[in-house]
Amino acid sequence: MERVPTPQTASPPATGAAATSPVRLTINGMDQALTLDNRVSLLDLLREHLHLTGTKKGCDHGQCGACTVIVNGRRINSCLTLAVMHDGDEVTTIEGIGTPDHLDPMQAAFVAHDGYQCGYCTPGQICSARAVLEEIAAGIPSHVTGDLNAPPPLSAEEIRERMSGNLCRCGAYANMLEAILEVADTQGLPA
Ligand code: FES
Ligand code: FES
Repeated sequence: MERVPTPQTASPPATGAAATSPVRLTINGMDQALTLDNRVSLLDLLREHLHLTGTKKGCDHGQCGACTVIVNGRRINSCLTLAVMHDGDEVTTIEGIGTPDHLDPMQAAFVAHDGYQCGYCTPGQICSARAVLEEIAAGIPSHVTGDLNAPPPLSAEEIRERMSGNLCRCGAYANMLEAILEVADTQGLPA
């Protein structure tokens, strides 16, 4: 008679201490050396371990943009990445961009144009807005860029598309667009 294979039994869940790794990052210009549970997201490292609570946890699923930070010059959703993946990286959060006494030009423009949103949305919006202008200046195309062989235009359509990962339920996007365009103008980016 043909033998029925014995089903493999699943390994029992691992017990004991969670796996950890040493991580060294530069966050807002400061060297940070930590040993972290490998499962800690970059967002939780910032908020829970370093108490940099400017970066917000909205959805924790990569859908709202509230957790946007700059890593090595490019914006990312910090909820979607593990902190241990960023050994040696440079991270900038909203705390490293401006202070109430020394606003970044993008923050000042948001104030001037009444572009600020709630405390949950604004830090991610400011991080994204700055990165959007840098992406356009670097010639990085977006989904709506028509000619991939030409520098992307500094149009409202380009900015809306690039900011579309930052959501809110209030819809005060028009004022933000004006603020971003004003900063682009002061930076000499071509319209
Ligand atoms: S908290 Fe990361 S995208 Fe919403
Ligand atoms: S401004 Fe934060 S939800 Fe709309």
